Amino acid sequence: MKSENPKPVLLADYRPPDFLIDSVHLDIVLAPSKTRVTSKLTVRRNPDSEATGKVPLRLDGELLKLESIALDGRALKPSSYRVDDTSLTILAPPKEPFTLEIVTLVNPKGNTALQGIYLSRGVYCSQCEAQGFRRITYFLDRPDVLAEYTVRLEADIETAPILLANGNPVERGTLSGGERHYAIWHDPHPKPSYLFAIVGGSLSPVASTFTTQSGREVDLRIYVERGKESRAHWAMESLKRAMRWDEVKFGREYDLDVFNIVAVSDFNMGAMENKGLNIFNDRLILASPQTATDSNYESIESVVAHEYFHNWTGNRITCRDWFQLCLKEGLTVYRDQEFSADLRSATVQRISDVRQLKALQFPEDQGPLAHPVRPESYVEINNFYTPTVYEKGAEVVRMIHTIVGPEKFRAGMDLYFERHDGQAVTIEDFIACFADVSGADFTQFHRWYSQSGTPELVCDLSYDRRKKSAELTVHQVLKPSPGKAKKQPYFIPISMALLGENGQEMDLEVEGGIKIRDGVMAVSERTTSFKFKGVSSRPVPSLLRGFSAPVTVTMSISDQDLAFLMHHDSDLFNRWQSSNAYATRSIIGLLDAKRPNAMVAAKSSKLADALRYALRDSELDDSYKAELLKLPSVADVAREKASRVDHAGIFDAHRLFSRTVGEKLADDLESLYANASRDKKFSPDAKNAGRRALRNAALTLLTARGASEDFARVEAHYRKASNMTDACHALFLIAGVDAPGRLDILEDFFERWKDDHLVIDMWFAAQAQSPRPSVLDEVKALCRHPLFKITTPNKVRALIGTYALGNPLQFNRADGAGYDFLADKVLEIDQLNPQVAARMLGAFRSYRALEPGRKGLARAALKRVAAAPISRDCHEIVSRMLE
Ligand code: PHE
Ligand code: ZN
Repeated sequence: MKSENPKPVLLADYRPPDFLIDSVHLDIVLAPSKTRVTSKLTVRRNPDSEATGKVPLRLDGELLKLESIALDGRALKPSSYRVDDTSLTILAPPKEPFTLEIVTLVNPKGNTALQGIYLSRGVYCSQCEAQGFRRITYFLDRPDVLAEYTVRLEADIETAPILLANGNPVERGTLSGGERHYAIWHDPHPKPSYLFAIVGGSLSPVASTFTTQSGREVDLRIYVERGKESRAHWAMESLKRAMRWDEVKFGREYDLDVFNIVAVSDFNMGAMENKGLNIFNDRLILASPQTATDSNYESIESVVAHEYFHNWTGNRITCRDWFQLCLKEGLTVYRDQEFSADLRSATVQRISDVRQLKALQFPEDQGPLAHPVRPESYVEINNFYTPTVYEKGAEVVRMIHTIVGPEKFRAGMDLYFERHDGQAVTIEDFIACFADVSGADFTQFHRWYSQSGTPELVCDLSYDRRKKSAELTVHQVLKPSPGKAKKQPYFIPISMALLGENGQEMDLEVEGGIKIRDGVMAVSERTTSFKFKGVSSRPVPSLLRGFSAPVTVTMSISDQDLAFLMHHDSDLFNRWQSSNAYATRSIIGLLDAKRPNAMVAAKSSKLADALRYALRDSELDDSYKAELLKLPSVADVAREKASRVDHAGIFDAHRLFSRTVGEKLADDLESLYANASRDKKFSPDAKNAGRRALRNAALTLLTARGASEDFARVEAHYRKASNMTDACHALFLIAGVDAPGRLDILEDFFERWKDDHLVIDMWFAAQAQSPRPSVLDEVKALCRHPLFKITTPNKVRALIGTYALGNPLQFNRADGAGYDFLADKVLEIDQLNPQVAARMLGAFRSYRALEPGRKGLARAALKRVAAAPISRDCHEIVSRMLE
């Protein structure tokens, strides 16, 4: 705990390691509070080290009890090494290669931070990324030290019949007496310590096999809690789809005899790509029609794929240092997005990825926590597993794809795998592959990795009727970010078209800017003008099609033209974008309107007309129509407003607008709702999920009217639901209003699911997201509920996380009580699990955009956290926020 002003680690200070570790033999004897770890390392001087002469060997280690240490078989004298809280230093190691044998004790049971080896509902498991291996044994715990691991695990047969580690199984056996057993695993692929993992526990496997493209058979196993086996089949199917897809799309084949996944209930993040032994938060593995929503099914499919894809992008080729995190994460997110787009609707996938980027990454990039996709300094690396590194990192890879085109992109990836397999590399190495295959110069493009902040493109289109020409100017506005006052212009690919009277794309001659290919232009200067000739009628611009760059676009465009795009844009992504932008600006318009009722009537008609037009179009997918019906959220509107945000005002305007749209569209929505076919047999595939999504989106808009028959419809929806998607949708709607059936439904849901820890998380979340004024008291009471556990990250996220990050109206109470509550909880959680506490603090990331009253209260809460004895994790976040 407590560290006053911990020194930041700088990218500029990177030095190759002075020593290398070629092989590691670990013997781990599992016991709840005294797990003994015996580690044998073969160590040698790194020929690439910059150090000369006598060099001490400093190994990382935290929270370890050192039992013994020997060098080349001889116990070391206490005077020849030094131990402190974070390291073990051998003062004068030999010049020639040597072996080190170190015995340490660790305490899995007392490990509430969930880094290193810990116990989750009786299962021993480990989490090493980023720096958890140093909580297992002393080591060079950095990603550029790659070693070959052999692991022996020993435990009671009764409590831990299953013993797993990375790589392939070698041997197993029972020990004398028959109560204990062991298993030996060997991973032939050298790997950094952060990919190390073990599991020991009483778990049940679901098994299958996969034959790779070259004909090797791989044993696949997913281990889950006893009795939950039937819920692992979707994850298994997803895994096989991912394995095939990586072969077809990227030519990447799996490289071990077994691939194991283990689902655990206590996990700080979503999942972890340990070599051959992925460990998952069980909410991203377990699914059945009764217990999981369509969106759960979708996340399982994409996260199982994400972790699998890491086998090549992350494991075979890893990061030189933690500043290069986006090398593996941005690229792997890009790959899982493409996988989902291929399996489902590509447009809807893009819409949901962009929604997520705007909801999570844009606020980060525009607030006090902004940092470049490749940061240059950190205090606690765990604080940099962010939407910027992941989601913006993926957008940067997507831009490379747009710039070089699909064939060159694949060639660049092939070259990357060929050139760097088995290495720990940098962003520069990655980019060089695309530069080499395409001949393009990526020097300017590199700014996407080094400059933080969301670029704003201010665009203007003028038309000269007589000359039949049009001119588009694009100006890059680059506001200062923390630590970066002045910025250089970016290279930005802009996918675009000018649309004629009937929505057709005009065939045009362009001058100015950089032409990448038909329909894709690029800008590289602060201001760029494009001149178009032969424009026979006034064009309507469709810019940033498919969201071709992570920027905002500001352009004065009439409601008329936006409505035109909502109906006619041939790019379906942009059709959605226009309708979303129109709804958002209409709601913002209502905020300062003198006569909001008159204004809302006109504004909502235009949107309702466009939505009706889309709903009646039989060419469009249900899932796409559902996206159109989902109006921007209160948080979306607040973000767009950007300054002097008053959530209460936005909530009222939002409610007025949604209610009016619901009224205007009622006939269509009611018949859609009544006629949509029900599930005969549940299937989670995209088409069926889309049908459910559309019907549920219609229900939401109808309910926005707030009439008693609307609430009755929601109640009936809940009672008749034959799957969790529908039940949960109704639960969230009813929990949000003071309708008569509210308490009955909450109670019914609780009674039905109280023994299912994952489903109960939805019950906590449904209550925490309610915009009713009493919600804060209810959340406080739920913190004392017997099923709430502050040490379980999923529980904290479901209740406290949903309240702070998913209930903008009630978290941002005018009296500041929401902020105070969160500060209290952060301080409590920080004592147990700093990583989770620091994440919760993210709820304050946009506090500077609040109106002065709320801003002052949020700042006071942050100051109170800063003044308390807190972890390095939280300390870094609050100090950046208060700077
Ligand atoms: N590397 C994991 C992923 O994105 C995320 C993770 C980070 C998990 C740190 C645990 C700890 O796939
Ligand atoms: Zn990842």
